Amino acid sequence: MRNGTTLLLLAAIAVAGVAYLTLGDAGPAPAAAPALTSVSDAPSAMVIFPVGEKPNPEGVGMKPVAFNHLVHENRIESCESCHHTGDTVACTTCHTVEGRAEGKFVTLAQAMHSPNIARQMQENTPQSCVGCHTRQLQQQECAGCHNVVKPARPETYCNTCHKVNGLTKADMVAGIAGSLPDDRNAELAADTLKARENPTQLQPTDGPYKVMIDEIADHYKASMYAHRRHVASLMERIEDNSLASAFHNQPTTLCSTCHHNSPLKGAPPKCGSCHPQRINPANPERPQLKAAYHLLCMGCHKGMNVARPLNTSCVTCHKHSEARLADSAAATLGGE
Ligand code: HEC
Ligand code: HEC
Ligand code: HEC
Ligand code: HEC
Ligand code: HEC
Ligand code: HEC
Ligand code: HEC
Ligand code: HEC
Ligand code: HEC
Repeated sequence: MRNGTTLLLLAAIAVAGVAYLTLGDAGPAPAAAPALTSVSDAPSAMVIFPVGEKPNPEGVGMKPVAFNHLVHENRIESCESCHHTGDTVACTTCHTVEGRAEGKFVTLAQAMHSPNIARQMQENTPQSCVGCHTRQLQQQECAGCHNVVKPARPETYCNTCHKVNGLTKADMVAGIAGSLPDDRNAELAADTLKARENPTQLQPTDGPYKVMIDEIADHYKASMYAHRRHVASLMERIEDNSLASAFHNQPTTLCSTCHHNSPLKGAPPKCGSCHPQRINPANPERPQLKAAYHLLCMGCHKGMNVARPLNTSCVTCHKHSEARLADSAAATLGGE
């Protein structure tokens, strides 16, 4: 085992030197991200296995997880955010599948997924993988979409973490028993991380340039929607974020932000094909068409602090109808 405490101090000093890379920095991302360098004694990536209290000769359990230590130690300000006891030992020393006394019976699954900010322990607040990632979604560039996306978290979500390329049953059994050689562990981790980069995504040019939204152009003029510019702008804002690219790993993930609840093959169904102009009493949860548009457009603009159009600036979206809008806005807003 390594001498964790001394390392932690050295590493904290080293990390201060690369502070421009840390989360708190709201400045623009550098044009070409500098190659990351290690400031810890940790391997740059490792596979974490579901270590249990009982012998597990069949290797039963969730698939193990390849963890990119290098990106995390560079992006997260302090080692203690994760190594919350101050010892840079494996989490499974204290958190196992069943839980053990050293970890106050906090199980491995809780330590890795707990959604809450746990209470402080020795002045550090333990953060799980999923708990911290969920907080990342509050950043402005993420909040717009994540304001309007209901997390479905299907199996592809679990498998973003729980997947190791080239893993054999023998690797799994050895990994759980703690006898997998370090170089084999490192090899598996490196192969998996490589495959995680740059998943195939539909591009802005796979959608229309502009769309005329006029299904309910009843009181007001139709809205011309700059489709391609929107998709391009959203993708550009997050292209340097490895967390986003690892999890947006289905070709249609980003399109499904707006084209939800429907497979995106060919042309997606219009919003109006599922959102009727009046609420269907059989389906009171589903917003009617006008509300569906407004909630989507404005929900994202609000989350991203878009300066123009303001949600109250009706004419930016509803062009050339200023006089009429002013007349009837008060009567219409909030009503059917
Ligand atoms: C951000 C990464 C991440 C995501 C996403 C994630 N997990 Fe995990 N999970 C881990 C890590 C790391 C471990 C510990 C290593 C291991 O057990 O494979 C773990 C452990 C577990 C365990 C305990 C080990 C066992 O075999 O009993 C279960 C169960 C589990 N995960 C289920 C899930 C399910 C189901 C999902 C999707 C709903 C999911 N996880 C999504 C990272 C993740
Ligand atoms: C985002 C969370 C996170 C941050 C930040 C982080 N680590 Fe880690 N570290 C981990 C995880 C998870 C493991 C793998 C634990 C396991 O195998 O159970 C690990 C493993 C290690 C190991 C190898 C432990 C062993 O014996 O297997 C060392 C050493 C280490 N980290 C040092 C550091 C240092 C020093 C820093 C700060 C510069 C740091 N870590 C920052 C999460 C983190
Ligand atoms: C030396 C033992 C030890 C090590 C090593 C350790 N933990 Fe913990 N962990 C604990 C104890 C004890 C608690 C319970 C704290 C309490 O309730 O006061 C805990 C609690 C947690 C919690 C809070 C869970 C919840 O549901 O509130 C998380 C998250 C967590 N640990 C993550 C980790 C991660 C990730 C690692 C590895 C990077 C790790 N721990 C390494 C002992 C340890
Ligand atoms: C304290 C916050 C925090 C914790 C804890 C944390 N992450 Fe992350 N994770 C991040 C950030 C920030 C990024 C990178 C964003 C960027 O590129 O700037 C990231 C990136 C990732 C990525 C994509 C990058 C890659 O190459 O793999 C995966 C997958 C991931 N984390 C898994 C995990 C797992 C598994 C754990 C737990 C063992 C974990 N994370 C714990 C904050 C965290
Ligand atoms: C263009 C819209 C869009 C933007 C911008 C966006 N996301 Fe997502 N993201 C999605 C969609 C859609 C899903 C899939 C939701 C689901 O099925 O659970 C998703 C899923 C995720 C997930 C896994 C599911 C979850 O709830 O944890 C993570 C992690 C994630 N995004 C991270 C990010 C990060 C970090 C950013 C900002 C740097 C970001 N996203 C920006 C649309 C977006
Ligand atoms: C971010 C863009 C946006 C803003 C800002 C906006 N709307 Fe809309 N609104 C839309 C879209 C898109 C539609 C659907 C257009 C259609 O199908 O004709 C719509 C539809 C409507 C409709 C139903 C169509 C009709 O002709 O009856 C009304 C009423 C309406 N908006 C009123 C307002 C008022 C009042 C404001 C200012 C408080 C406003 N909107 C601000 C985007 C916006
Ligand atoms: C930010 C929200 C948003 C995103 C992201 C998005 N779209 Fe759209 N898209 C819309 C809206 C709104 C419409 C108009 C729907 C209507 O008229 O009911 C539309 C319409 C379309 C249409 C139909 C055009 C027509 O003339 O009928 C296609 C095709 C399309 N989108 C493809 C895509 C593809 C492919 C992606 C991913 C690359 C994507 N969209 C991402 C909001 C979005
Ligand atoms: C294939 C059917 C379908 C299509 C097409 C569709 N929606 Fe939805 N929408 C739903 C369902 C289902 C819900 C969830 C509420 C419910 O249970 O009825 C929903 C909910 C919503 C909500 C409420 C927030 C939420 O996620 O629960 C908004 C806003 C919304 N839709 C906007 C839109 C917009 C804008 C479009 C077009 C770009 C669209 N929807 C296209 C089926 C659809
Ligand atoms: C997922 C996020 C998101 C959604 C959903 C969204 N927007 Fe936007 N919108 C933006 C961002 C970000 C900008 C800032 C301008 C840029 O980056 O290009 C913007 C800018 C605009 C602008 C001013 C710039 C321009 O293109 O003229 C208009 C008008 C607009 N949006 C209309 C709409 C309408 C109408 C809808 C709903 C059909 C909508 N937006 C849905 C993110 C979104």
